[in-house]
Amino acid sequence: MQSNDIRKLLTAVAALGLMMVFLIVSAIGLIVMVQFQPEILTNWFADSKEEVPAVEVQVVDEEWTDEKIEEVGLVQGEGLQLVLANCTNCHSAKLVTQNRFTREGWIQVIRWMQETQGFWDLGSNEDPIVDYLSTHFAPEAKGRRKPLEVEWYSLE
Ligand code: HEC
Repeated sequence: MQSNDIRKLLTAVAALGLMMVFLIVSAIGLIVMVQFQPEILTNWFADSKEEVPAVEVQVVDEEWTDEKIEEVGLVQGEGLQLVLANCTNCHSAKLVTQNRFTREGWIQVIRWMQETQGFWDLGSNEDPIVDYLSTHFAPEAKGRRKPLEVEWYSLE
């Protein structure tokens, strides 16, 4: 072997060694990165830009299934989506369905919430919302418990 060959061999070994060190360091770096931010990996494998809005819509759909709407006592009808979007953020929808008001009554409740509870201005959504409420949750609406028949007696 000539010294020239030995030098070539040494250079090759050194280069290989360097590459190994580089690979190991990158692997460790990657593992540490994934440990602290696992979403980096998921973002790599999923096209997050397209999926995020779809997932958000799904969540809304999943939340208000027909069964759940029925469970809280709401009825299908025009304006339901607006009521779901505006009336279930602060309290249960059951608080809505447990009440019966006239159109004016519902507007009063909304005004009261706006004045004292930080309820937002409904703008052009107010009419369809009040329509929905006063149609399905009117004092004389079906399903409402009849007033108890109380026999009054006088105290002597
Ligand atoms: C910004 C928050 C907020 C939003 C949004 C909201 N409410 Fe309320 N609402 C309240 C609070 C707070 C109360 C009082 C809750 C309590 O007493 O536990 C309340 C009470 C009520 C009551 C009971 C009133 C009474 O006299 O007892 C009804 C009915 C009602 N809300 C209906 C609605 C309807 C219908 C919507 C949508 C149009 C709505 N709420 C949206 C905050 C809100």
